[in-house]
Amino acid sequence: MSRYIRPEILSMSGYVAGEQPASDSDVIKLNTNENPYRASEKSYNAIRRVLEFGLSRYPDPRAAEFCEIVGRKYGIDPATILCGNGSDDILTILTRTFVGSGELLRLPYPTYILYRSLAEIQGAGSELIHFNEDWSLPDNFYSAGENLRLVFLPNPNSPSGTVIPKERIVEIADNLPCPLVIDEAYIDFADDSCIDLAGRHKRIIVTRTFSKSHSLAGLRFGYLVAAVELVEQMLKVKDSYNCDTISIAAAAAAISDESWQVENRKKIIATRNRLTEKMRAMGFNVPDSKANFTWNTRTDINVRLIYEYLKSQGVLVRYMNYPDWGDGLRISVGTDEQVDKCLELIRQFVEK
Ligand SMILES: Cc1ncc(COP(=O)(O)O)c(C=O)c1O
Repeated sequence: MSRYIRPEILSMSGYVAGEQPASDSDVIKLNTNENPYRASEKSYNAIRRVLEFGLSRYPDPRAAEFCEIVGRKYGIDPATILCGNGSDDILTILTRTFVGSGELLRLPYPTYILYRSLAEIQGAGSELIHFNEDWSLPDNFYSAGENLRLVFLPNPNSPSGTVIPKERIVEIADNLPCPLVIDEAYIDFADDSCIDLAGRHKRIIVTRTFSKSHSLAGLRFGYLVAAVELVEQMLKVKDSYNCDTISIAAAAAAISDESWQVENRKKIIATRNRLTEKMRAMGFNVPDSKANFTWNTRTDINVRLIYEYLKSQGVLVRYMNYPDWGDGLRISVGTDEQVDKCLELIRQFVEK
């Protein structure tokens, strides 16, 4: 059968998502950076209202209701916003719009693994620029390059949770010959968003998701902000109805519930900082995280064995091994109780 398949697809290994045990299992899930708390009741009420009305009509292809709300919230033109079926859909639309076969996508390394798969699907190359040891970016991340068509920069980065300051991001965008995508999947747990620059600086595009800071990973909703001329071209690439009526209504309600967001952010940040301190106290190297997870490394122990031990005890974290960089455990911030259980098991393992 392989003769039917494009060679680019045959040769790629494909993105492997984190394990998803059945939703009724009592595994403590700290492996895919979901939010452990229930989403705003306003989003559940919006879903109920949609269901009462019925689903016989197609959704709004542009999700105008949502774009208006985000436009007002951030003081941006709704025409600069494009919505997607989760931010992975947005990242796919971006790659398909800007990067063709034989062209180049630039990424920092290590980072979100999906970007590379998106380049491979296009038959494009990925240029991986290693972070410095302190998770800052080296000068060659800024340089022009032949065939370079798009640059992805998650801020905060995964798996490190570290951030690149906004002034540096503007410098990078000023130097690049192509659009720079700031993937702000985790920005609500950090301080300094670039959303005010997107659409104004012609080459800065910002992407956001509802999977992390809005507790709606199961809903699938994300969006980007970019210059209108770029959005107009991306509209040709997206599926006509890439967001359904339920997700548009729920996302619009969730983003309007400011007090839920303030409260949730406070809880996640407090638990994250406690997790960081406790892991450091147990001898792990943990960079300062501005996301809802921490990156934990140690050279004197095989950390894969810790992952396996935790799994055997019903706690899932993410073990990552990056060639030419090293391995570690990425632990998502759960509730205090979940994190305490995870910490206690790690303590038992390292002290044994
Ligand atoms: C950096 C980054 N961007 C995007 C995503 C995808 O988010 P979504 O659930 O909106 O597709 C993730 C998911 O873990 C991520 O880590």
